[in-house]
This record gives sequence, structure tokens and C-alpha cells, in this order.
Amino acid sequence: MLRSKDLTGLYDTSAEEIVEILDRAAEMKALLARGKKSGKTLAGTALVTLFYENSTRTRTSFELAGKYLGAHEVNVAAASSSVQKGETLIDTGRTLDALKVDFIAMRHPLAGAPVLLAKNVSASVINAGDGMNEHPTQALLDMFTMREKLGGIKGLKVAILGDIKHSRVAKSNLFGLKKLGAEVYMYAPRTLMPAEIEKLGAHVCTSMEEAIDGADCVMGLRIQLERQKGGLFPSLSEYSRFYGVKDGMLALAAKGALVMHPGPVNRGIELTPSLIDGGNSVINEQVTNGLAVRMAVLSLLREYREKNL
Ligand code: CP
Repeated sequence: MLRSKDLTGLYDTSAEEIVEILDRAAEMKALLARGKKSGKTLAGTALVTLFYENSTRTRTSFELAGKYLGAHEVNVAAASSSVQKGETLIDTGRTLDALKVDFIAMRHPLAGAPVLLAKNVSASVINAGDGMNEHPTQALLDMFTMREKLGGIKGLKVAILGDIKHSRVAKSNLFGLKKLGAEVYMYAPRTLMPAEIEKLGAHVCTSMEEAIDGADCVMGLRIQLERQKGGLFPSLSEYSRFYGVKDGMLALAAKGALVMHPGPVNRGIELTPSLIDGGNSVINEQVTNGLAVRMAVLSLLREYREKNL
């Protein structure tokens, strides 16, 4: 049983809750493998996807997760909503509450926006990415993929490489992986490494080789050009040359290491095309697992709502 009506981040989610979500996701994945796309778990509920930033994977998988479990599902694109007329986030949330919405999956450019919304609405708020803060369902699908492919999370060495400063994926993975007993090694240009991230449990490496050496998972991160204020690295080609993961580097990792990326990938910048498309890559499976994970989160939140609200 989850402990809250909302899922706003993995910093505040216990190891037991994470395992419960991953176990439920495995059940959902088994249903999907049998072609079951018309469940009744969420029958009689309504899900709104409220996205103030672009998305392909997250929004689509939340929408499909809701539909496959029998919810009524509606998308509110901020660009065409009353947000453009000056409505505040809280008033938007209260409007959705007045429409008897049960779940709001929200992406927002500002860190903390999902927590603010969650405190002001009756609906369950699921953070689909808030600024540079957290992206909990992405980290859950990453952990699900690691657990499925490698048999468990405890004791894994996970190398996270690239634009860590701007990455909500890196932070949610750090919180979740540490709780399940993995070790997280990070490497980035100094300008793209958050200050004092080691205090949150990361090992900060001084070279890419140190991060990848013996790693079970090699996770590249997208260069977030939209969050760059400029001047943090000289050019994309220079970034790719010095900080992109090259084919030969996989030889340093553990045998059978997973190549991961949350997407969307800037091909040839963060990872070479042959790593993206190669035999160690699980990038497409991460997307598939995202659907099962979001189905799991919605079904567990529904159980919480039925028992507690
Ligand atoms: N990984 C991820 O959040 O992708 P989208 O931006 O396409 O949702």
C-alpha cells in the first residue's frame, strides 16, 4: 500500500513502496504480454495529463496506461488551455477537481510544482517531470528494466553520464537506486555537475573511465539545451568529443552491461548510434516498461484512494 495520495518524487518514497510499484509493474507487463488492453482497474475514474512541457514517451504512456486500465482520459495541453489567459496552477488544479478528476499526471518546468498542486487538490498528482528536480516514473521504469534484465538492484554499479545538473532523471534514479542498494557513479563536465551531489549518496568521478569501469548499467543523459543558460560547455561537437560515450568504452563495463538512456536521444552526442542500436542497448525496452510502470502507479494510487479518501 502506498503511503500518500500522490507520487511527487522518489526522495519521499520508501524502498518498500518502490518494490511494491516494481512488483505491480511486473504484473501489468505480464497482462500486456497477453494482449490485455481493456482492464477495469480504473473503471469509473478520470485521468488528466497536464503537460506544460513537451513529451512523447511520458505523456503517451500515461494516456495509454489510463485507457488500458479503463479510466476516462483527457489531455490538457498548457499551450491551448486557460493557463495562457493567466490562470494560476492552483486554480487550474481546482478546476480539474471541480470536474471530479481522480488523477493528474503533470509535467512542469518549475521544480516543486507537483508538490504545490498536490497540496491544493483532492486528485492524486503524479509528477511526470518537474524542472531539474525529479522524474519519478522514469527512474521507476529504469529500475524495473535493471531488475528484469540483471535479476536485482542491490549491489549494482550504475554509471550516470552527462548533463546531471539539469537532469531530473539522474536525481530520481539516485534516490531510488540508493534506496534499493545500488551504487551510483556520476561523471559530467564540472559545469554540469550539481554542487555537493555526493552528499545525496552519489560517487562523483573524475573521468568517464572511472565511472564506467565494472559498471552494470551505463546510462547516458540528454543534453538539455532548453535548460542551458549558455556557456556551460563550448559547443555540442566539443561536448560529444569529450563527454559522449564512445563504442570502445563499453569494454570497461561489466560483461552484459546495459546501455540506457531516458530519451529523447541526441544521436551521436550523448551516445554513439552503434551504442544506441547495439546489442547492449535497452532503450526501447525502457519505453515499453514505462507503460507497465505507469499502469502500476495508477492502480496502486487508486487502491490508496479507495481505502483512505
Ligand atoms: N524520458 C522522457 O521523459 O521522455 P519524454 O520527454 O518524451 O516524455
